[in-house]
Amino acid sequence: PPPGWTTDADIVVIGSGIAGLVAALRARTAGKVLLVTKALLDDGSTRWAQGGIAAALHPGDSPEDHLTDTLTAGVGVCDPEAVRVLVTEGPDAVRELIALGTDFDRDGEGHLALTREGGHLRRRIAHAGGDATGAEISRALLAATKDAGIEVIEHALALDLMIEDGRTAGVTLHVMGEGQRDGVGAVRARAVILATGGLGQVFEATTNPEVSTGDGVALALRAGARVADVEFVQFHPTPMWLGPDARGRQPLISEAVRGEGAFLVDGSGERFMTGRHPLADLAPRDVVTKEIMKRMRETGEPCMYLDGRNLGPRIWAQRFPTILATCERHGIDPVNEPIPVLPAAHHASGGVRTDLWGRTSVPGLYACGEVACTGVHGANRLASNSLLEGLVFAQRIASVLADDTERDAPAPSGAAGASTLLDPGIRPEIQRIMTAGCGVLRDGPGLERAAAELAALASRTTDRPCTEAWEVTNLYTVASLIVASARRREETRGSHWRSDFPDASDEWRGHLVSALDGDTLT
Ligand code: SIN
Repeated sequence: PPPGWTTDADIVVIGSGIAGLVAALRARTAGKVLLVTKALLDDGSTRWAQGGIAAALHPGDSPEDHLTDTLTAGVGVCDPEAVRVLVTEGPDAVRELIALGTDFDRDGEGHLALTREGGHLRRRIAHAGGDATGAEISRALLAATKDAGIEVIEHALALDLMIEDGRTAGVTLHVMGEGQRDGVGAVRARAVILATGGLGQVFEATTNPEVSTGDGVALALRAGARVADVEFVQFHPTPMWLGPDARGRQPLISEAVRGEGAFLVDGSGERFMTGRHPLADLAPRDVVTKEIMKRMRETGEPCMYLDGRNLGPRIWAQRFPTILATCERHGIDPVNEPIPVLPAAHHASGGVRTDLWGRTSVPGLYACGEVACTGVHGANRLASNSLLEGLVFAQRIASVLADDTERDAPAPSGAAGASTLLDPGIRPEIQRIMTAGCGVLRDGPGLERAAAELAALASRTTDRPCTEAWEVTNLYTVASLIVASARRREETRGSHWRSDFPDASDEWRGHLVSALDGDTLT
């Protein structure tokens, strides 16, 4: 529909997690910032982050060691220069978060308390409120955003990028219940920063909130931008298992619980990670998830268990108050019994392809945070690198915005808005198809079936534009791309596990990059 209202800004930031809020705060030096968010300001993924934020903050640690662990976890697909940026700028970026008011946990001597998670060879992860790191970061950044007087539109779903004379000219939005700016409108701006988060809602069970519907990736694709590595959807090993019919957002049990000494067992109490990887229970996330799935197949059990009884009541109460409360809400007492766990979709390691400054392939369009593929995660993100990525690359975008808009921009490839909207009723169908055919373990016939079943949904259109219809259209676009990429990548690497191609292949050691006009391996 044509826009019913228009407004102006220099820079529009879409999304209000760590990446969006930091981008909005820092971009003010380059012009007037408008921050838009799909639901309420703190409804995104950031506030659910538990474990923490990884950076070489201990005097005995180094960016080089953090780089090595990140590259190892990424199984040959990380871009080393991007990782170097992340790990070298990370420590100062975390200090800036502290300067902005984030209250990280400290030890008895006042030093930052650091924990471990999978794939980290040392304690490197700063946390807050025990296991409520994201909530604390979100609180501090929202307060700073408010103090800075940044204009915000809530309940605003970004629809499509506006492109004029070969570069970004703004974005169209669908806004609900925001007074004069209700319905479809347009914000004219010379730069648009996507910080829309992830796409976990493509699957039936995910740790992501309802809002994680891949909107940024779908918008970028329609705008002609390049997207990479979407087949690498990371499944967190230990969300709590709520039973066979569990759907939607599942309660996360942080890897930091294993970092503090808990371990995985099967139904008979046997530790199955021992001997499977040198780091055992603290192996990189993809390894642990695969071992859980293998053990479930061996024993026929519907879940595995996280045994944290050795932590004792004091550690549970002090370090993991959020998780303890969640367990109690679900009738589990982790101090005295193992927690049933089952992997669920957690993080998109891929997304909108950017350079080291968050620039996408469309001039004036930037991406940071989970929506982006900066190249730091490769085939499997290292635990607690995602808050850091959002923080570091949001700052980098802000630092080039002013200069970028001075330059002449080359014309982008063709852009298109969503031509047909899909019926919101197909959302559970998409999730079922993706879970059955494109989940943790994949194979050619299953992926082919998923592709065919998704294609059959394309005729289920609606002519009633509403947020749910745009969301499901985005979910569909992203799900189709994940399946297509997973079919193309005929190997097993990181979080992409194919039973019919069980080994990694050198031929596939690169990024699968897609755009409207096809895909390439780079
Ligand atoms: C966790 O706390 O286990 C999640 C951390 C992450 O996804 O990086």
